[in-house]
Amino acid sequence: MSERRPRILSGVQPSGELHLGNYFGAIAQHVRLQDEGDAFYFIADYHALTTVHDAERLAALTRDVAATYLALGLDPQKATFFRQSDVPEVHELTWMLECVTGMGLLERAHSYKDKVAKGIHPSVGLFTYPALMASDILIYQADLVPVGQDQVQHIEMCQDMAQSFNSRFGRRERDAEGVERVVGPLKRPEYKLSPTPKVPGTDGQKMSKSYGNTIPIFASGKRLKKAVNSIVTDSRDPKREPLDPDACNAFAIYALLHDEDEVAALAEQYRRAPEVGFLGYGVTKKAIIERMQERFGPARERYEALKRPGSELDDVLREGALRARAVARETIAACRQATGLGPLLSA
Ligand code: ADP
Ligand code: TRP
Repeated sequence: MSERRPRILSGVQPSGELHLGNYFGAIAQHVRLQDEGDAFYFIADYHALTTVHDAERLAALTRDVAATYLALGLDPQKATFFRQSDVPEVHELTWMLECVTGMGLLERAHSYKDKVAKGIHPSVGLFTYPALMASDILIYQADLVPVGQDQVQHIEMCQDMAQSFNSRFGRRERDAEGVERVVGPLKRPEYKLSPTPKVPGTDGQKMSKSYGNTIPIFASGKRLKKAVNSIVTDSRDPKREPLDPDACNAFAIYALLHDEDEVAALAEQYRRAPEVGFLGYGVTKKAIIERMQERFGPARERYEALKRPGSELDDVLREGALRARAVARETIAACRQATGLGPLLSA
């Protein structure tokens, strides 16, 4: 009997221009995993409503995220790619999950506290964000959720919510040994961290759209130069003393874009800076700019074309939504049944 391929699922918010942190923490891994399982990826536009309150901007950013993924290798023949809001059934499951989730669980969310500390309005939507995220995952019966470090607590909350729902509404069954277990309609997912789950920004904090410390994936020319040149480095003088590669943000970003030998060679130059006449951080920054142009330049043209109205992007998202919606409806039907809400009236 052939095993079902694992369902891999992740979402990205259209809340700003995608950057190297998103690329190395999420996109690169998502594209790789489309060959290893039945991948579902979506643009989390409902989630972005917690922070983006401008209709034109939300629509433009949604298109931008979709074009970025497709230009960087997401293949709609392999992965189901869609907009979160094209499957409104996700809110029905969110409500069911909220009814089995204690306030205490949501009150412990780091991400809510961090966002409020950064000045984001503490709306009810921002507070219940993890329940919608859990529903995103559970409604598609995901096995594996590839994310960056910052999302791990949200996945753990999702595991808790699946467990609470199943234990309240699941059926009690005895296995062959007579041991009782509960079989519920929701599948417990696991998370998968990318090999680079925490990419530093130009100021050394986590790179994030909301910290203004990003290097956008498709920046070019002066804008790219300006972003890379703003990477904070320390004040050591390479003519007088050795530099420490591990203490350098520019080195950390260089390491993401270069192979092992190149990274080892640059580390050696840092450590022997005065001896070998290393010219300092400017060298590292110039190499970052060159490598970004090589790596992302060719995809940039495709990205620009995909963003234009009438490109194939609309068809891709429509097809993806149809496939995703069919799966979502099955889960909703099972959950309505389990809770006693019962089947929807047919029209
Ligand atoms: P941002 O912090 O810029 O708003 P998101 O929260 O939209 O980014 O994150 C989208 C995806 O990118 C998530 O899977 C997240 O874990 C990952 N990600 C974001 N920033 C980084 C980073 N600096 N390093 C690694 N992964 C990141
Ligand atoms: N909260 C995630 C982020 O900010 C985006 C997201 C929404 C998500 N729903 C998801 C990620 C479901 C993984 C699975 O990055």
